[in-house]
Amino acid sequence: MLAEEFSFKANQIIGSKGNLNVALSGGNTPKLLFEILAAGYKTKIDWSKINFYWVDERCVPPDSAESNFKMTNDELLKKVNVPDMNIHRMRGEVNPETEAESYSVQLSENLPSENNIPVFDIIFLGMGKDGHTASIFPGQLNLFDVNEACSASENPQTHQKRITLTGKVINNADYIYFLVTGKDKSEVIRKIIERLQDYDLYPAAHVNPVGGSLNWYIDDAAAELFTKVKNQMR
Ligand code: 6PG
Repeated sequence: MLAEEFSFKANQIIGSKGNLNVALSGGNTPKLLFEILAAGYKTKIDWSKINFYWVDERCVPPDSAESNFKMTNDELLKKVNVPDMNIHRMRGEVNPETEAESYSVQLSENLPSENNIPVFDIIFLGMGKDGHTASIFPGQLNLFDVNEACSASENPQTHQKRITLTGKVINNADYIYFLVTGKDKSEVIRKIIERLQDYDLYPAAHVNPVGGSLNWYIDDAAAELFTKVKNQMR
């Protein structure tokens, strides 16, 4: 379903404006979507019209098994022949503050903006079991208020340095797709979607597009604790 939705939306946007600016998250969840897209949508989308950016990156080299770029390149970009010039990698091997600044400049130069904030056509987000999204972790909600488009951050559990889009850029997107799978996220998802208890401590709860749309794609395991109609992710 999500692969089909992306294909439809991508073709619609490319048809109307000639290109598409998308920001991808990393981690494990998107791998299934990338596999489906690479296997079944190679000729259904004009991949040469899509500019690929990242929502966040771990501060590791691009050939590291932890690199979001490496995962995306291996699972999707190499398989659908995206031109190198369309791949706008967050450089995990560079000082995070330096790269956050450089990436912010890239976004302001390459993307349209609204309210002086870059606008992505589509952003794919994941969520950690601690309710983090992008690389905005609990206790870092200030990253939803800063004016910089990108920031350095740190995973408080592993102390791994990160680079991340900030909340204002995320919430400025036209279409946000949240992909969440796994039983270990069901309690946080329920609290966020049903606005229960301490839901606003979770960064994922602060994803509220200013003018765009927010679409949750949740598998049965992650959805088991809440009563709402379950979206299937294929
Ligand atoms: C990252 C991601 C991050 C991810 C969540 C969920 O760099 O890890 O961008 O925000 O979306 O941590 O990760 P999983 O999909 O592996 O559960």
